[in-house]
Amino acid sequence: MIAPAHILLLEPFAPSREETLPPIPFDRASVMRIGNVSIAHGLTLAPMEEHTSLPFRLIMKQHGASLVCSERIDGCDVASRDKRAMKLLATTAGERPAVGQISGGEPQEIAEAARVIQELGFAIVDLNFECPIKRLVGRGEGGALMAQPARIAELVAAAAKVVDIPVTVKLRTGPKAGEDTAIETAQRVEQAGGAGITLHARSVEQAYLGGPDWTHVTRVKEAVSIPVLGSGGIRTAADAIAFLKESGADGAAIGRGCLGNPWIFQQARSLLLGGGAVAEPSPAERGKVLLSLVEHEFEFYGPHLATRRLPRTACYFAKFLPTFGEFKKEIQTIKNLPQFRQLVRERFR
Ligand SMILES: Cc1cc2nc3c(=O)[nH]c(=O)nc-3n(C[C@H](O)[C@H](O)[C@H](O)COP(=O)(O)O)c2cc1C
Repeated sequence: MIAPAHILLLEPFAPSREETLPPIPFDRASVMRIGNVSIAHGLTLAPMEEHTSLPFRLIMKQHGASLVCSERIDGCDVASRDKRAMKLLATTAGERPAVGQISGGEPQEIAEAARVIQELGFAIVDLNFECPIKRLVGRGEGGALMAQPARIAELVAAAAKVVDIPVTVKLRTGPKAGEDTAIETAQRVEQAGGAGITLHARSVEQAYLGGPDWTHVTRVKEAVSIPVLGSGGIRTAADAIAFLKESGADGAAIGRGCLGNPWIFQQARSLLLGGGAVAEPSPAERGKVLLSLVEHEFEFYGPHLATRRLPRTACYFAKFLPTFGEFKKEIQTIKNLPQFRQLVRERFR
């Protein structure tokens, strides 16, 4: 299934208020610890279904993401080592430290799935309590659990009891506007042995639309002593810096802002360290990185699925080209990798 267009749309984001804010203290520009795992800095890749499989994660890592995360996978499939789940959880040394993300509503199942994540070589297991998709919410999992902070704590405790790697959670602000459960949930997660929190600063009801409210991240950060990362609305390097300054969070988990733009991590890192703005990549550089991602996707998914994914993946990179209009039409005619290589040679220069 390819995600609906409204989710993938890169909506414009409010301009950065960076200039008016105090500098970030140096400790937040450097190493962060989640449990026993050292993370080089706070600029991480947010999990995204149908995007953050191994080829994508490796590209983001190579371009400066400190920590990368698999997409959410049903805990029952992970626990039973379902073939598709294992494929999505393929990991290699090149991406470490990496996070494997699972969802579920039963402590025993979550515990078993967490054990598998550890066995596969992930440094951290993340429990998803944020996903708004109906199928998941309908069975009382993912975002549905933001209405039950005590249940979330039970699930965290069940996982933390059976693994040595840190257990973290991905939360929303609450089920809907006016029902903010994130602070209570975060405190319970910490008490239950959770080692870190990423807060997507929207409610479950909001799904992916509408402005994230970063002040929720500040309030959660103030309520717990484990690391708190925030997510939502970071589209440019300057947004990432503004987010860190405004929210006081330990890190920023970048989602849609890195689609077709892995350079956002280096650019933000440079600003974080007080360096200048890193120049935008040339079209040729964009083409080179796109091709490397696509070639790896052909190996990873096989030609059939990789060809189906091609227009979407390529358009994220091509949207920066002056000839994007033509490219959008041409990509629809591409049937195989040699044709794609030729198109990249012609357009990305
Ligand atoms: C297509 C898509 C798929 C997503 N899949 C997941 C997921 O599997 N697990 C998760 O925790 N969050 C998922 N998210 C949420 C992102 O991790 C991130 O928190 C969210 O997109 C907010 O950041 P953004 O506004 O910078 O994109 C997904 C978001 C998008 C757009």
